[in-house]
Amino acid sequence: MKVLETDRLILRRLSLEDAGFILKLVNEPSWLRFIGDKGVRTLDDARGYLLKGPLEMYARLGFGLYRVGLKEDGQSIGLCGLIKRDALPDVDIGFAFLPGFWGKGYAYEAASAVVAYGHESLGLKRLVAIASPDNDRSIQLLEKLGLRFERLMTLSAGAEPVKLLARDF
Ligand SMILES: CC(C)(COP(=O)(O)OP(=O)(O)OC[C@H]1O[C@@H](n2cnc3c(N)ncnc32)[C@H](O)[C@@H]1OP(=O)(O)O)[C@@H](O)C(=O)NCCC(=O)NCCS
Repeated sequence: MKVLETDRLILRRLSLEDAGFILKLVNEPSWLRFIGDKGVRTLDDARGYLLKGPLEMYARLGFGLYRVGLKEDGQSIGLCGLIKRDALPDVDIGFAFLPGFWGKGYAYEAASAVVAYGHESLGLKRLVAIASPDNDRSIQLLEKLGLRFERLMTLSAGAEPVKLLARDF
């Protein structure tokens, strides 16, 4: 199901058919470093991640992480969307792209559309994001989207501190 379209990109809901792409993305060194190891090693694990993560969130909340594809040739290049975590009172924006597609403004293009969607279509009054303090590319992108650093926090007991950024509409 298509959710958003930009000049160069289509954002649509993920489905179990995206398992191959997910398996690749969540094992990229950049994902493992900045987001964490989801323990997804096989196509079956990737289907489980999709079912318990994005697909469950679409069903429960009507939004979630979307698959970003290139209009030009249809290939999957990343994920971008909205997440509601138990550990945070507000909805947060998330994104991750295959490294071959960094540095082209794709993440900004997708995330700008997601910010507008969250505000205009979902009526969010506040949008937050969390990032590792050393995730410079992500923090730079979040600042371009109008989010500002608020404080350091931990998402669970014993976890590494993360930066909380926020934008009020
Ligand atoms: C975070 C992440 C999505 C950022 O990707 P990105 O490609 O750097 O982000 P942008 O789309 O904003 O692109 C900006 C770069 O594209 C360049 N660019 C080229 N064409 C552009 C265009 N048309 N519009 C905007 N920027 C463009 C910019 O100059 C900039 O280049 P620079 O980094 O050399 O300065 C990516 O690094 C990633 O997937 N990281 C791993 C996962 C992760 O950490 N996720 C966040 C967890 S909190």
